[in-house]
Amino acid sequence: MSDSGAKTLIFERNSNPVPVNEREALLQNPGFGRVFTDHMVTIRYTEGRGWHDGKIEARKAFNIDPATLVLHYAQEIFEGMKAYRLPDGGAALFRPDANARRFRNSATRLAMAPLPEELFLESVRSLVEVDKDWIPTGDGAALYLRPFMFATETLLGVKPSAEYVYCVVASSVGAYFKGGASAVTLWVSENYTRAAPGGTGEAKCGGNYAASLAAQAEATQEGCDQVVFLDAVERRYIEELGGMNVFFVFDDGSLQTPPLTGTILPGITRDSLITLGRDLGLTVREEPYSIDQWQKDAESGRLREAFACGTAAVVTPIGKLKGRKHNFTIGDGTAGPVTQRLKAALLDIQNGRSNDVHGWMDRLF
Ligand code: PLP
Ligand code: COI
Repeated sequence: MSDSGAKTLIFERNSNPVPVNEREALLQNPGFGRVFTDHMVTIRYTEGRGWHDGKIEARKAFNIDPATLVLHYAQEIFEGMKAYRLPDGGAALFRPDANARRFRNSATRLAMAPLPEELFLESVRSLVEVDKDWIPTGDGAALYLRPFMFATETLLGVKPSAEYVYCVVASSVGAYFKGGASAVTLWVSENYTRAAPGGTGEAKCGGNYAASLAAQAEATQEGCDQVVFLDAVERRYIEELGGMNVFFVFDDGSLQTPPLTGTILPGITRDSLITLGRDLGLTVREEPYSIDQWQKDAESGRLREAFACGTAAVVTPIGKLKGRKHNFTIGDGTAGPVTQRLKAALLDIQNGRSNDVHGWMDRLF
């Protein structure tokens, strides 16, 4: 047991941390994914030996052979979660058990060694504890944890690696979209799909994001903020954004989100908003929704609001949708009342301002 609170991880304190005044300046306006803390977790896996050499140590570069498997065949998975500063000065993670479970499922899909969920939880909790001075305060600010795992065997044969490194780094973050984005414009991708049935869409693997980048570049070129993907079979049904799930709000007050059929990432924010929507007395459906219906409903006024959601994006209103065959505004193009209520309900729990009735907050200190 070390002063990091870890049970199985050896703690070696960074002897050269970022000076306090520099850290405080960085925390003023951290952006997303640019400001990193002083430490990281690493745990190694070797076939026949299992998980070993777990450490919390100074954040540093990896030294890897050019023939390391991950560099060639992309056997890599990751997670994204946040630790929030609470009003009494303490801190909590939001549903880390759900991230631990999804990480294990991703590992299974990518034929990687599953990390025991308890070890995942210990790693993220301990890193937050050690780097707690890096948790920023203020609405939308949090310490973003990035657990990930990659194949480290040195080999050019195509097979599951016999060795892995699991690592967690932490990044002080503000809003994901520049300026907090009052509402984003989406580009519907007709040239590219994100995931096909039987593929890796529901796993959180780096390859899915690599595959989304050409579509995202097209979206940017068309002056849009994010890409929205259609299903790979019929090219009709809305799936999700490059890094967020999507919800629709109708004039009868009901909510709808695409069902989890294997090609969509099962978002923890998505799952939480389904529950919070029902808590607010709304009907929530997990049903397919086509792009043509979306346009029709937006034009008739049956569709009132739409929003994207995820750990990084929290709840982000969708104002407009563009594509080669589509161009429409949702509502008046700004955040609608249901979107705002759901966002407030989620943030109030995450920031410790409301009663955590679902037991989602994992209090650390
Ligand atoms: N969909 C994709 C492709 C994502 O990358 C993410 C972000 O993690 C989400 C959805 C939302 O998932 P979560 O709410 O668990 O962050
Ligand atoms: C997250 O929300 O945690 C993600 O992984 C999405 C990514 C766009 C940052």
